[in-house]
Amino acid sequence: MIYEIAFATKTSIRNNKCLQHIDLLFIHQPFNDYYGTYRAMEAAYKQGIIRAIGVSNFYPDRLIDLCHFVEVMPAVNQVETHVFQQQLAAHEIMKKYGIQHESGGPFAEGRKDFFQNAVLKEIGEKYHKSVAQTALRFLIQSDVIVIPKSTHKERMVQNLNVFDFHLSEEDMNTIRSLDEKESAFFSHYDPETVEMLTGLTR
Ligand SMILES: NC(=O)c1ccc[n+]([C@@H]2O[C@H](COP(=O)([O-])OP(=O)(O)OC[C@H]3O[C@@H](n4cnc5c(N)ncnc54)[C@H](OP(=O)(O)O)[C@@H]3O)[C@@H](O)[C@H]2O)c1
Repeated sequence: MIYEIAFATKTSIRNNKCLQHIDLLFIHQPFNDYYGTYRAMEAAYKQGIIRAIGVSNFYPDRLIDLCHFVEVMPAVNQVETHVFQQQLAAHEIMKKYGIQHESGGPFAEGRKDFFQNAVLKEIGEKYHKSVAQTALRFLIQSDVIVIPKSTHKERMVQNLNVFDFHLSEEDMNTIRSLDEKESAFFSHYDPETVEMLTGLTR
């Protein structure tokens, strides 16, 4: 079973104390005994050990199935989401079931020459913002939670500084046109990928 712990826990590892609780725990992908995993998470949620439970890489088919057979609905679903893979159809399903859409890899991990994209550059310049800030702002205005990663302090500051501007509907539409509707990484429905990912757990 693969878990990803998201968000800093309010913590706990100070002074050698054990972790008191986890803010959000989610299943990384719908492989192996994910129902068994989810039921264990529900039990921990009910005991207050985990404040919110969720899933990741659950595309509409798996997500709908899960929603119909669990007691606690997932709070979030983290799926690959960025300007080149906007996940509009999946977003609507999440909305229907009251699940918050969270982006995995909001910059497509820098693939596709992300930070040099001419459309994002031009739009960003109008607001005196970088490509990264424009891309994050687009997702935020699309009701998608973003957790960008950077190892550089100045970029972390830059990535946090996205709440003081608003993209116009025209600019939102222009960025919507960048959607290629396919993964920049891999498909969770590709047999070779599934073999590779399930192999990681052995
Ligand atoms: N559930 C899933 O399957 C899944 C899949 C992918 C990602 N995720 C999650 O999504 C989050 C972020 O994903 P990620 O790290 O894979 O990719 P990402 O956030 O899309 O991209 C990170 C890359 O962007 C660069 N970067 C960050 N801010 C920048 C800026 N302002 N200007 C220029 N470059 C910038 C970083 O470089 P530096 O570090 O050198 O600054 C790094 O190379 C993580 O929490 C991750 O666990 C989840």
